[in-house]
Amino acid sequence: MPAELTPQEIVVELDCYIIGQREAKRTVAIALRNRWRRQQAPPDIQEEILPSNIILIGPTGVGKTEIARRLARLAGAPFIKVEATKFTEVGYVGRDVESMIRDLADRSISMVREEHESRVQERAKGLAQERIMDALMPPLPTPDGKIPEEKRSSATHTKLRQKLQNGDFDEREIEIEVSTDHSPMLQVFGPMGLEEMGMNLQDLLGNLSGRRRKKRRIKVREARRLLTKEEAQKLIDMDTVTREALNRVEESGIVFIDEIDKIVSRMQKNQGGADVSREGVQRDLLPIVEGATVTTKHGMVRTDHILFIASGAFHVAKPSDLIPEMQGRFPIRVELHSLNEEDFYRILTQPRNALLKQYQALLLAEGVSLTFTDNAVRAIAKTAARVNAEVENIGARRLHTIMTTLLDDLLFDAGSTGVAAVELDASAVNARLSEIVENRDLSQFIL
Ligand SMILES: Nc1ncnc2c1ncn2[C@@H]1O[C@H](COP(=O)(O)OP(=O)(O)OP(=O)(O)O)[C@@H](O)[C@H]1O
Ligand SMILES: [Mg+2]
Repeated sequence: MPAELTPQEIVVELDCYIIGQREAKRTVAIALRNRWRRQQAPPDIQEEILPSNIILIGPTGVGKTEIARRLARLAGAPFIKVEATKFTEVGYVGRDVESMIRDLADRSISMVREEHESRVQERAKGLAQERIMDALMPPLPTPDGKIPEEKRSSATHTKLRQKLQNGDFDEREIEIEVSTDHSPMLQVFGPMGLEEMGMNLQDLLGNLSGRRRKKRRIKVREARRLLTKEEAQKLIDMDTVTREALNRVEESGIVFIDEIDKIVSRMQKNQGGADVSREGVQRDLLPIVEGATVTTKHGMVRTDHILFIASGAFHVAKPSDLIPEMQGRFPIRVELHSLNEEDFYRILTQPRNALLKQYQALLLAEGVSLTFTDNAVRAIAKTAARVNAEVENIGARRLHTIMTTLLDDLLFDAGSTGVAAVELDASAVNARLSEIVENRDLSQFIL
């Protein structure tokens, strides 16, 4: 089970995706492991142990969100990211902060449902296969309406089934009956009251009318996909899924609250007239962070042991400007460092999903093998660092804009020309980028 990774192992995993930021990785690894440790503790103390909520402090684009997201993924934990500023918007209603827990519950449900469905995948495939068989070669019912077993296992059937399995009929059209549970025409936005209770009209209507069944003519290939999905849904027990999903939210959910520094009142504490709406948001968030029970359409969710990771640049405000109760609920603070040329060099090449690997994969789809000399990668990293320093520091996000600019022609031409291999060296990189970098107006727009 991935949830049983030790802090050291968690950091090793995070290292596969995030360069540097060692302290932040260590901190989130400890917080994650502490939850598992809590679950091992005797019940009476278990309830007392509070989650180690964290504030990640650092400039934009240095990996704050990425670390939290990766952490959740490797823990198999339901994860949601919200912008704290969202709750300061006009028309916002105090109770709406609970919506993040409802969204988290939705995520958890689909996560657990997918896991359950993948466990019954083979059986579902078999059942789908039989339904397609019936559509291809409708069995003749006996007078009492039953389908004789020997028909299903006759020699013709066996041959047909084999061909079907081989994909020989994939392009053939058949008529099947599928349930249409999502009708986009029915996108109704319910009144606030319902939404707050975590319900919407769609669900209510869906429950009233039940699942609709509809005959459709589709290709066997498509039918296999639809019917497997449908059979898998029938095979799993949604009550079990729901119970497991809600439990998972409560025991291992992670809520990432971005831009927490933007809901800090900018005024000095004793200056009077504190920024009511910002502080108001903190007050609204507080009960959820402290531990409340939120009603979702799937059932009640206790937030006591959900892990909250807040994040912000804190250029102007400081964590100590948060209301005291909030500070107490986020006892762990960790700073992320801004990224330099050497970091960019590593980010371009080392992570499992490194940017260069991504572009290589894209171009390989066109049969083009793209390589970079070491000096080319150095030149890209150098350019990124320079534009960050001269225009605006947007961290590793700068690499994306630079790479798209650098590879623009190649990405446009690939597929049309017969080029099979491209190697970029430092001079090719500089030829493409230096003019833009030198010209500040240009780089502001392009890079
Ligand atoms: N240290 C790093 N190692 C590898 N990739 C990184 C690193 N920092 C950032 N990135 C990449 O840069 C992009 C932006 O990073 P991320 O979303 O984590 O920024 P952030 O710190 O949350 O910024 P913001 O404060 O603007 O939300 C992501 O695609 C991420 O993969
Ligand atoms: Mg972010």
